[in-house]
Amino acid sequence: MSLLRVEGLKKSFGGVRALEDVTMEIPEGGIVGLIGPNGSGKSTLVNVITGIFPPDGGRMFLAEQEFTGEGAHRIANMGVMRTFQVPRVFKEMSVMENMLVSKGDQTGEDLFNTFFRWGRVREEERENIARARDILEFLEIWHMKNELASSLSGGQQKLLALARVLMAGPRVLLLDEPVAGVNPKLARKIFGKIQELREGGMTFLIIEHDVDILMDFCDEIYVMDRGRIVFKGEPREVLESKEVMEVYMGG
Ligand SMILES: Nc1ncnc2c1ncn2[C@@H]1O[C@H](COP(=O)(O)OP(=O)(O)OP(=O)(O)O)[C@@H](O)[C@H]1O
Ligand SMILES: [Mg+2]
Repeated sequence: MSLLRVEGLKKSFGGVRALEDVTMEIPEGGIVGLIGPNGSGKSTLVNVITGIFPPDGGRMFLAEQEFTGEGAHRIANMGVMRTFQVPRVFKEMSVMENMLVSKGDQTGEDLFNTFFRWGRVREEERENIARARDILEFLEIWHMKNELASSLSGGQQKLLALARVLMAGPRVLLLDEPVAGVNPKLARKIFGKIQELREGGMTFLIIEHDVDILMDFCDEIYVMDRGRIVFKGEPREVLESKEVMEVYMGG
């Protein structure tokens, strides 16, 4: 069964048709890859699915429940979350502070709760710290917990951005180029972690330019060109596809 399904999505910016009739199904527990030339609409698709922009047309479903037209907060609360092409971290905060600021709905933010349910706040704080530690250890950046995010390499910042979104407990995670600009060894390590998370039940859509790495980790790959899905298949079918060749060779 597909966990996330979008049907006939459309999105234009002025005269630019960024999405034209995009239909996609992401099976529960799957890792689906999304490739396509620059400007083909990949990030826009993620922006629309996560509610940053409303679609001009089409429908979106999570476990067959329609969420078309819902706002970004509601969609995140449903468990559909993402990372950004340029990692979003708080550069002047430490790695650990970045982890703890990522949960927006902590009881401690409410003044009433701070005064009257102090015990509960402390308990939640302890739980969040323990959870942050588990995630940082899992991603092998626990030793950097006290470093300023600005002092991390580009690849480490991508890891921290992933760590932050994991704090919120996503059900479906849309990753916009999670390893772009990351050295090949770390890139493979990050994909290995993604695979472990999938074995734990998480579902992924991953935008990535490096087809080689997708070959080894994805169940299925979609190919976009000028706002349209032009091909969908198993990794090796993508390599052999005439349509894909035409997209990358410019027809
Ligand atoms: N917020 C926006 N306002 C105006 N135009 C936009 C906006 N976002 C995207 N576009 C345009 O929509 C088209 C698709 O862009 P998008 O960023 O989705 O491509 P992409 O496939 O992610 O490319 P890349 O591989 O370079 O990241 C481009 O023509 C882009 O200029
Ligand atoms: Mg993009």
